[in-house]
Amino acid sequence: MRVLVTGAGGFVGPHLRRALQATGAEVFGLGPHPIPGEVDLLVDVTDTKATAEAVAKVKPDAVVHLAGLSSVSECGKEPMKAFQINSGGALSVVQAVLALKAPCRVLLVSSGEVYGAAAGPAPIDEGLLPDPMNVYGATKRAAEIIALQHRYQGLDVIIARPFNHIGPGQTPTFVLPSFAQQVTRVPRGGQVTLEVGNLSAVRDFSHVEDIVEAYVLLLRQGKGGEVYNLGSGVGRSIESMLQLLVARSGREVTVKVDPKRLRPVEIPTLVGNVEKLKALGWKPTRSVDQALSAILDEMERRPAP
Ligand SMILES: NC(=O)c1ccc[n+]([C@@H]2O[C@H](COP(=O)([O-])OP(=O)(O)OC[C@H]3O[C@@H](n4cnc5c(N)ncnc54)[C@H](O)[C@@H]3O)[C@@H](O)[C@H]2O)c1
Repeated sequence: MRVLVTGAGGFVGPHLRRALQATGAEVFGLGPHPIPGEVDLLVDVTDTKATAEAVAKVKPDAVVHLAGLSSVSECGKEPMKAFQINSGGALSVVQAVLALKAPCRVLLVSSGEVYGAAAGPAPIDEGLLPDPMNVYGATKRAAEIIALQHRYQGLDVIIARPFNHIGPGQTPTFVLPSFAQQVTRVPRGGQVTLEVGNLSAVRDFSHVEDIVEAYVLLLRQGKGGEVYNLGSGVGRSIESMLQLLVARSGREVTVKVDPKRLRPVEIPTLVGNVEKLKALGWKPTRSVDQALSAILDEMERRPAP
């Protein structure tokens, strides 16, 4: 199986490459910057022609579309750029695949953020009508609509709605790597003041390796035209995740709220019901503790900035 992975040089891409290769797949990574061993095709997905040429060259059996602006706050700062990359990029990719005129499944990686205001305290299932509350969620919802519309032109497409996933390789623009980076600036046994945003928000955290296994499963066994939530189904406050991280860090931590880190619109609770994915045989096998330890280990090894 030849699989083209867009956004291959980001956090998830390298984990996905290894999971696909473990199943015998041949992986081709696409991205805007050269990253040896990860990005083979230098392409910006907003460039429709270059995207079509890359897809035609690889002739994949499947495409996993990870490429995008993945930070909620960065999308909020540059909404036009966010729509161009996240929604326009999805359009480039699905049109490039249709132009192949050959069987090729597209796994469009959206986000649980699309549920937005529709999310309540209980885990959300795929039947709930999305109501995005931020630019990022809206760009992902638009990408879903674009991809699903193309199934009427013959596209074999599946929508993945992952909730938060964590592990080594994620940049400190995201909450847990940011905490880990701040904590590991002082040696073990030391004291540190941590700058935080809203700790009360409840999210659904998974180990990145469990999520990429779900992508591999969806490529092989997902039903075309369907939407699947990917997550743990368990709600955890950011505060409880911080406590787990601090307990593992071996430092004394004092918390200080930094108003710059508070998001203007915050979904209080965002947890997925993942029974539809589990019905395909998927079962998470790694804990968030393992992911947090891996993030801390990675930050401990990094030279101080
Ligand atoms: N990490 C999570 O918790 C999470 C949760 C839900 C959804 N997602 C989605 O999963 C996907 C992968 O997430 P990630 O954490 O690896 O994100 P990431 O930001 O680490 O990686 C995204 C990649 O896309 C690339 N990219 C950006 N603009 C591009 C363009 N114009 N053309 C080609 N490539 C471009 C970037 O260079 C980067 O390598 C993203 O679409 C993200 O929105 C992630």
